[in-house]
Amino acid sequence: MTDHSSTEGSRATLVTAVETLTGRPPVQMDARHFMTGGIGRVNTADGALRLEAGDVVVTPSVVLIYEIPPGKRRDFEAFQRLLEQHGVNSLGLDADASRTATEKNLTVDQFVLDNVPHMETISLSRPTAELAADSFDELGGDVWARPVVGMGGDDVFHVTSHEQLRDAADYYATSELDWLIARDANNVNHGGLRHQYRVVVLEGRVVRACEHVQANPDAPCNEIQGAVSTVLDIDDLPAGLGQLAVSATKSLGLAFGGVDLALENGGVVFEVNVHPAFGSDGGLETVAIPYVEAHLAMLS
Ligand SMILES: Nc1ncnc2c1ncn2[C@@H]1O[C@H](COP(=O)(O)OP(=O)(O)O)[C@@H](O)[C@H]1O
Ligand SMILES: [Mg+2]
Repeated sequence: MTDHSSTEGSRATLVTAVETLTGRPPVQMDARHFMTGGIGRVNTADGALRLEAGDVVVTPSVVLIYEIPPGKRRDFEAFQRLLEQHGVNSLGLDADASRTATEKNLTVDQFVLDNVPHMETISLSRPTAELAADSFDELGGDVWARPVVGMGGDDVFHVTSHEQLRDAADYYATSELDWLIARDANNVNHGGLRHQYRVVVLEGRVVRACEHVQANPDAPCNEIQGAVSTVLDIDDLPAGLGQLAVSATKSLGLAFGGVDLALENGGVVFEVNVHPAFGSDGGLETVAIPYVEAHLAMLS
């Protein structure tokens, strides 16, 4: 089950993984039908849970949930809770965990509670100009501003002056977005370029690791913003980063997540993605197959 309006592309890879492992295609359902107000219906027939949306009717043995855009996840929570109450096999039913990971102010609060290293952050919800300026000064005048709910480095700004801060504040106010500012991680490699890691964690183990290098020092290290991603041998991940990614995922209560983190400052986590894009290079083998396998294991 994915949002069929999403063009991010994980769905096709997951379908291939299911076909590879079971010899059969999965039934594909549009998650939008099961969001608040959708046409999807959940009922029980002979004790088994049945999902219905238009012509598609299925009594699933396992429900694989992916590619739900961050901004729509709250509307999907009631359905997650319903499936959980019915004891459905799925790794994607913890609505509290996905909300904590999706809303970055909640992520940071949880990291503080669990001592997961991250850059010092202040959450700003429609702040006065004075509060924004004071928070910026408190964090040393070199920060990154991010929306509380976002993806792909959209609406993320490197802010190093009060003028840039005012521009960012105006932008978030006009877009009606809550936001956060965090101290710059100074995640610069020996060649002077911004770099960071994406580590995908499944049930407490690292399944995929990439390094992202960004030529523009003021742009986020997201591939879609021009960063170049290189797949690493998991053993080549700098010491401690794999464990840090596992701790961050566990802190948020997720069985699976794609962690963005930097090596500098002793290792700091930026965020944990609930449904990380697979990346084209080996995404099927490193993420989709193990993720489907973990679901199939729930059957035994
Ligand atoms: N404190 C920071 N220091 C350096 N870079 C940052 C900082 N905060 C965010 N960034 C950059 O912005 C990117 C986007 O932020 P992130 O939390 O990953 O949100 P998303 O990828 O969902 O837009 C980060 O992956 C990182 O490259
Ligand atoms: Mg990110």
